[in-house]
Amino acid sequence: MSENDAHDVIEVITAKRDGQVLTDSQIDWVVAAYTRGDVADEQMSALAMAILLNGMQRAEIARWTAAMIASGERMDFSSLSRPTADKHSTGGVGDKITLPLAPLVAACGVAVPQLSGRGLGHTGGTLDKLESIPGWRAALSNDEMLAQLEEVGAVVCAAGDGLAPADKKLYALRDVTGTVEAIPLIASSIMSKKIAEGTGSLVLDVKVGTGAFMKQVDQARELAETMVGLGQDAGVHTVALLTDMSTPLGRTAGNALEVRESVEVLAGGGPADVVELTVALAREMLAGAGHEDVDPADVLASGRAMDAWRAMIRAQDGDPDAELPTGRETHVVPAPATGTLSRLDAMAVGMAAWRLGAGRARKEDPVQAGAGVEWHARPGDEVREGEPLLTLHTDEPERFERALASLEGGYEIGASHEPGPLVIDRVAGAVR
Ligand code: URA
Repeated sequence: MSENDAHDVIEVITAKRDGQVLTDSQIDWVVAAYTRGDVADEQMSALAMAILLNGMQRAEIARWTAAMIASGERMDFSSLSRPTADKHSTGGVGDKITLPLAPLVAACGVAVPQLSGRGLGHTGGTLDKLESIPGWRAALSNDEMLAQLEEVGAVVCAAGDGLAPADKKLYALRDVTGTVEAIPLIASSIMSKKIAEGTGSLVLDVKVGTGAFMKQVDQARELAETMVGLGQDAGVHTVALLTDMSTPLGRTAGNALEVRESVEVLAGGGPADVVELTVALAREMLAGAGHEDVDPADVLASGRAMDAWRAMIRAQDGDPDAELPTGRETHVVPAPATGTLSRLDAMAVGMAAWRLGAGRARKEDPVQAGAGVEWHARPGDEVREGEPLLTLHTDEPERFERALASLEGGYEIGASHEPGPLVIDRVAGAVR
């Protein structure tokens, strides 16, 4: 019997359907056979649903992750003269943190190899944001990436097709079969790409709240512990922060709008929550890479992170001095009453930005660089009736109506506001 017919797909599906633990050999076989095309999409979707319903044990998740890594190439940064650290966010609204964070950590002496994706649904994609900078190019060869990491210290670029191809296929399938939300599948999907990418240490920003995958802290903690365990088992120093995503980050959601806000942070200004999270994640990345003696807040204030940003954009043919695109049309939403903004819902804002053209419904759709939402107050701020609360931007004014509909019920003005912490918890070890 050849390796290709070591198992039968029905045997693997029914084992998981009946709540059994899959063997290493079943897992290796089914992931490889699906990647080759010998297991059909409908069979893999049945297995993904069985995993969603019945879960997986820790050892099964580790083996599934290893099988997805083995489906493609692994990058190797061991020739670099500095250590490497990366960050991954599970996705949120207004989450532009990678933009100031990568150059900040590079300016602190640690190389950041960040392979990013494009946005799907209500959360934005880092590559879409950077592509709003005239000339900037997301596709780099492995050699270009290595050279830029040595010279500039930070790279944000598109993951090539060679990295965890099993995940690429499976993620697209999960997206259309209602099986995205399975913790074993999310954890193995994220960690297979990060381990294959070859970073020495990793910080995970696991979002919690209405605008995140994980709406509850307990679910987010379980995902964080699973991913931290997978990273540690693979020899990658991995820590996770659980951070609030009930309110969107900063003051903007949309591609060029978020680049502008990130540049403000690099220039020493910008919204306090974006600065706080950037510095908190930078501290974790530096500690993971053995550079805990460097204070990222000092480096941010010194302007060296801005120098690294400019070098990083130029190295990928972008013009850091070019004017950023703006939406051709704007629509202002006034505050309906005077008082304290007590709630601004991340999901409502994310949906509005998406409907204005900042995001895409299908992965082939284009995005508008200038589209998005700007909010003029954050929860806790005083607002006055009739003054601007939100500004919507788009090139296509017919989009305003649906964007406004998604904002209905998405904000409240009251007498007071009790702010919760931005960083809710830190997970540095896994439950075994
Ligand atoms: N991001 C990923 O890369 N994979 C998932 O499964 C979910 C979010």
